[in-house]
Amino acid sequence: MADSLPETPPPSPGTVESPGAVAPRRGFLSLLAVIAGSIAGLVPLAAGTIFFLDPILRKRQEVGGGMLQAVNVSDLPTDGTPLRVTLKSDIPDAWTTYRDRVIGSVYLRLMPNGQVLAFNDTCTHLGCKVDYQPAEKRYFCPCHQSAFGLDGARQNKTPPRDLDSLDVEIKDGVIWVKYVNFRTVQAKKEPV
Ligand code: FES
Repeated sequence: MADSLPETPPPSPGTVESPGAVAPRRGFLSLLAVIAGSIAGLVPLAAGTIFFLDPILRKRQEVGGGMLQAVNVSDLPTDGTPLRVTLKSDIPDAWTTYRDRVIGSVYLRLMPNGQVLAFNDTCTHLGCKVDYQPAEKRYFCPCHQSAFGLDGARQNKTPPRDLDSLDVEIKDGVIWVKYVNFRTVQAKKEPV
């Protein structure tokens, strides 16, 4: 005759939880689940936001104030005749970089001492482009007849100020120009 298994002792009264004690614990676990779920959802959201903003933030850091490569010093006429040069640069948009976009144009002039003068070719009157007239050795604006000397100084009262000079650096025989546009109409040279 097989031994009978010992009977499982009935739960002691001290281990039985009352319905009133179980409810708060379930509420706490539900709260934990909500918090964990929220965190799990925020991580990819934050990563997506950073991914979305990153090119825009980088663009702010990259654009503006840079030196643009122009031409070699040896490309300039040695007799001091100004050379008009178009400046190009890569322009980063949010997710795309546009290659070799025209930024503006300048006149570069080689001086006898080897320095290079640079002028923005925008007329300071109302913003037309000035031409160089070699016979008169002057810059001339066809829109309202503003005239400027080789040094950029205005020669009549139509323009409110001289041509806008630009900073230049020469590195290893290459000319770099800090291209800036300035407000027209006014006497003060003020970057746009
Ligand atoms: S815009 Fe050049 S003279 Fe008026």
